[in-house]
Amino acid sequence: MSATSATHLTCNVEETIALGERLAAGWPAGTVVALKGDLGAGKTALTKGIARGLGVTDTITSPTFTLVNEHAARDGRRLYHVDLYRLDQPQQAVEIGIEEELAPDGWTIIEWAEKLGDVLPANAAHIEIEIVGENERRITVRGTRSAEREARNQEP
Ligand SMILES: Nc1ncnc2c1ncn2[C@@H]1O[C@H](COP(=O)(O)OP(=O)(O)OP(=O)(O)O)[C@@H](O)[C@H]1O
Ligand SMILES: [Mg+2]
Repeated sequence: MSATSATHLTCNVEETIALGERLAAGWPAGTVVALKGDLGAGKTALTKGIARGLGVTDTITSPTFTLVNEHAARDGRRLYHVDLYRLDQPQQAVEIGIEEELAPDGWTIIEWAEKLGDVLPANAAHIEIEIVGENERRITVRGTRSAEREARNQEP
């Protein structure tokens, strides 16, 4: 994982969606993103934008009960949207066959990825969403190529 990070502030859900779209446009196939943030922080909202940036036209809803939703994305590849809120043990994810989503031919976005513990690949990118106010969110991106590029652009 890269040491560079970029921080963004959004003031409403539309801005978070737009940020996700911009970020994902630069992500190569094979990118796995761990999304961290409290209940209602905006993980699914950001994923809606990410999906848009990856060329998904489906409606994105949270896969809380199914754990994984698959969507057709750009270049004939897939977006795997994983939500592990209901996962008790990392090993359960292995048992339900998460390996496919952790070394994807397309892209994988994981809500509550911290529940995976060591099962999460070391090369995963990380995005943390912090609730600053009712509608303000601080979004920190680490370990994706676009994050590195944006961090460089912010240097004096
Ligand atoms: N700046 C913002 N960015 C994202 N969401 C925002 C923002 N301001 C307000 N919201 C609201 O916060 C909520 C975010 O919900 P969302 O389902 O995306 O959260 P989540 O992190 O996926 O939660 P969960 O842990 O339940 O899956 C929505 O109701 C959205 O309208
Ligand atoms: Mg969610």
